[in-house]
Amino acid sequence: MQTPSGHAIDATSASRLVVLASGGGSNLAALLAAHDDPAYGARVVGVVTDRPGAGALDLAHAAGVPSAVVAMKDFDDRAAWNEGVAQAVRVFRPDWVVLAGFMRVLAPQFVRRFEGRILNTHPALLPSFPGAHGVRDALAHGVRITGCTVHLVDDGVDTGPILAQAAVPVHDGDDEPTLHERIKSAERALLVETVGRIAREGLYVAGRHATIGG
Ligand code: GRF
Repeated sequence: MQTPSGHAIDATSASRLVVLASGGGSNLAALLAAHDDPAYGARVVGVVTDRPGAGALDLAHAAGVPSAVVAMKDFDDRAAWNEGVAQAVRVFRPDWVVLAGFMRVLAPQFVRRFEGRILNTHPALLPSFPGAHGVRDALAHGVRITGCTVHLVDDGVDTGPILAQAAVPVHDGDDEPTLHERIKSAERALLVETVGRIAREGLYVAGRHATIGG
């Protein structure tokens, strides 16, 4: 199979993605829909969630992808839970760890383990509106344009180098669910495109500036 850039990619050379998700998993679903094409260059090889009822687990099961639940309640403290997540991820030997709606902050120790190889998708145009309520905060602020961001994860909350962004308009009368749905539609496309490009073309990072391909 030839990629657009002409490099041969087969199933064994596809980048290994481990996806962490807490919710419904529509971003995971988009990655799973893309990964069957060998030309995509990446495959989801494992799914890890902190929520036993996460829809992401059903999606993984239906796609034949192994999954693990690492719930906070099963650990003595946050440090032990972080270690549990790291162990679960490591089992899948990831090239890239993709946080796709993973609603907990991972400790610096986790970030060190997979340094420079953790991607996150955030439903706002960073550096505006970081944190767990990016959609609500943008709406409350009264912005007319918001969007989504795929970025590298560092020790901060949504502060790592930005890889890709897409703008999404806010419509009169939007509430958080309607705006979030519009953002999620753009977010899925951006995540799939960005992860695929990184897998096929590589990623170069100099300080805050990240470039996909050369
Ligand atoms: C996405 O908008 C993600 O950025 C946010 O939560 C949503 C998760 O959606 N943190 P899904 O679980 O992938 O459907």
